[in-house]
Amino acid sequence: MKDTLLKIRDEALTALGVSDADLEALRIKYLGKKGELTAVLRGMGKLSAEERPVVGQLANEVRETIEKEIARRSEALKNAALEARLQAERADVTVPGTAVPVGHVHPIAKVQREMEDIFIGMGYDIVEGPEVEYDYYNFQALNIPPEHPARDTQDTFYITENILLRSQTSPVQVRTMEKRRPPIRIISPGRVYRSDAVDASHSPLFHQMEGLVVDKGVTMGNLKGTLEMFARRMFGENTRVRFRPHHFPFTEPSAEVDVSCFVCGGKGCRLCKGEGWIEILGAGMVHPNVLRNCDIDPDEYSGFAFGMGIERVALLKYHVDDMRLLYENDVRFLGQF
Ligand code: DAH
Repeated sequence: MKDTLLKIRDEALTALGVSDADLEALRIKYLGKKGELTAVLRGMGKLSAEERPVVGQLANEVRETIEKEIARRSEALKNAALEARLQAERADVTVPGTAVPVGHVHPIAKVQREMEDIFIGMGYDIVEGPEVEYDYYNFQALNIPPEHPARDTQDTFYITENILLRSQTSPVQVRTMEKRRPPIRIISPGRVYRSDAVDASHSPLFHQMEGLVVDKGVTMGNLKGTLEMFARRMFGENTRVRFRPHHFPFTEPSAEVDVSCFVCGGKGCRLCKGEGWIEILGAGMVHPNVLRNCDIDPDEYSGFAFGMGIERVALLKYHVDDMRLLYENDVRFLGQF
């Protein structure tokens, strides 16, 4: 019986030594209930009283040996599998990553923020107004009564007889003066609408930025100084400003304001079309009627206002000659700014 036990042990160890041994099958074969070792132990009853403990001990040793070997092999196989996986899945940390495309601010928004920063630096608040506006705020309170010819140049989209898409940011002047008492110092950027066909310099939707200052003793000199400061910050330190007489119903006197061409410095070039000057905005002293409409006494207070197109400034600044490029949202174009 001893020989049988030793034979079982050696066979089992040999079988377990094979590289792709099926450990579970071998465990059942040798140690299972119907296994070879168990079969031997069943026969132990036939042994003499002296032999029984000796064979019993040997049988236990054989069982232990086989169990240990199975455990050792099982551990080794697990480690080998893990090692193989680590090798197969090894990450090369030097491989360049896949770049995540990062967007950025649209040129119109960028220019708008730049403008805002300049005026915030001069102590202005930013105020917003509704894009769907009453005729009263968009026109009447700004000294543009029904039938006034100024309405023709700002033909817009009517929702009802007296509600429309604002054609300018100027209504925010009135809304602000109704709510606040002087001193008032605000800018108001936002979308405006006009019933214009799309071309290189027109769009039915565009952006403006309004400015309004009302206080005691505000003069045209203050307006000029303010716009000069703005122009220098926006277009460069050497920029000069020129006022040309104009007419707006809501300012008196009114002016169109040019800046010296920031490409040629005033000599004349393609950007300024040989003029040396580039028109950028409308401005003037707030009309007494507008102040009165907002319950501000024009004998006590005066103010200046200005309004400019944000697209226009963006096109000039980035030397883009077609406004449509700003709206097409072609990332090949937008990615350049
Ligand atoms: N709202 C005018 C426009 O759209 C621009 C403008 C001119 C605004 C003179 C003003 C101003 O505040 O004083 O053409």
